[in-house]
Amino acid sequence: MKLTTKSYFCTAFLEDEQNNKIAMVTEVINTNELHKMDPVFGQLSFDNHEQIVFCNDKDTGLKAIIGIHNTVLGPALGGTRMWNYTSEWEALNDVLRLSRGMTYKSAVTGLNLGGGKAVLIGDAKTQKTPELMLKFGEFVNSLGGKYITAEDVGMATSDMDLVRTVTPYVTGISESKGGAGNPSPVTAYGVFMGMKAAAKYKFGSDVLEDKVIYVQGIGNVGESLVENLSNEGAKVYISDINQDRLEEVRDKYSVNIYGGDNIYAEEMDIYAPCALGATVNDFTINQLRTKIIAGAANNQLAEEQKHGKMLREKGIVYAPDFLINAGGIINVYAELENYDRKEIMRKTENIYNTTLEILKKADVDNITTHQAAFNIAQARIDARKNEK
Ligand SMILES: NC(=O)c1ccc[n+]([C@@H]2O[C@H](COP(=O)([O-])OP(=O)(O)OC[C@H]3O[C@@H](n4cnc5c(N)ncnc54)[C@H](O)[C@@H]3O)[C@@H](O)[C@H]2O)c1
Repeated sequence: MKLTTKSYFCTAFLEDEQNNKIAMVTEVINTNELHKMDPVFGQLSFDNHEQIVFCNDKDTGLKAIIGIHNTVLGPALGGTRMWNYTSEWEALNDVLRLSRGMTYKSAVTGLNLGGGKAVLIGDAKTQKTPELMLKFGEFVNSLGGKYITAEDVGMATSDMDLVRTVTPYVTGISESKGGAGNPSPVTAYGVFMGMKAAAKYKFGSDVLEDKVIYVQGIGNVGESLVENLSNEGAKVYISDINQDRLEEVRDKYSVNIYGGDNIYAEEMDIYAPCALGATVNDFTINQLRTKIIAGAANNQLAEEQKHGKMLREKGIVYAPDFLINAGGIINVYAELENYDRKEIMRKTENIYNTTLEILKKADVDNITTHQAAFNIAQARIDARKNEK
């Protein structure tokens, strides 16, 4: 058994695949490949992260890891995820991978932010207490602003409001407390813009009317995306593991519930992954009959290089996830830079131009769209580093 990529663990926290992934990790730890899995710097997802902070508090039960990947462009900003990880390896890999992703998301979006993320080990439904959140806030505060937190899976705006009482280094607080509020509609708008740019590139027009679009996952972002698409007259199909939600969204926007059992094999114009990471993988790419992939989920490509190339060879246009789902970070950045809603939407709308530019650049350079976006982000970081 062999672990082939750094992004291998990216779906480790997801229900369907969780057990397989953990089994793999255990397998590697018990083999001669142990040296590849040194506790921190040897982790597969370790990518020259600047700092990794392990936080522990016996009284509240807090066990957290803060990953600071890169602060060349600015303070490392990224959300806090609370998840019932089945091992510390899994939690560490998640924070390493997510914090790295934030570096490139902010860099390609043109924000003066670095990449960071935090994970709290535990069940958000049963183990998240005000005391635990306050203690976590104290740890964030102790970093003096090098890491700024926000919401992620398992967190609500009210949790950030609580953290705000012990540290100024938190964003995503409620509008009534001077924050920018719920980022999901902004994220969805950015995805919509990225999708339109991909359509312009592939079909010569960015009008999505009558285009067949499958939205997988109709949570906070997915629903808002469905609203945008339905307003434009697209033929929208929705899928989710939550049946009640499917019916609610169908009735609200007059869209179709996907009734089949293999969304990947359906013929469509656009596939919008808005639930899981790593849905674009060896298994699905061979079945995909879409022309474009553009969605909100993080880390859609199971293996960035390999699967980016496979999509390119199949002629499927891939709008890089970390580029088009940046609306949320644009939204929270407003809290630091004091810009208003109009500016938030203007910056988010600009995802259209950036996406189109990157899709064209990938063609010119004969590289994957993911690589083209990554190169732009890396060039920004390198330029700033040289200035310093
Ligand atoms: N919220 C944001 O602003 C934001 C920003 C950037 C990226 N993202 C990413 O976008 C994605 C969606 O975020 P969200 O805030 O809407 O999350 P959410 O938890 O509100 O929604 C996720 C939805 O996916 C559904 N789902 C789970 N497993 C599924 C499966 N196997 N098939 C179909 N549906 C499934 C869930 O039932 C839920 O309705 C996540 O990957 C998230 O990391 C979100």
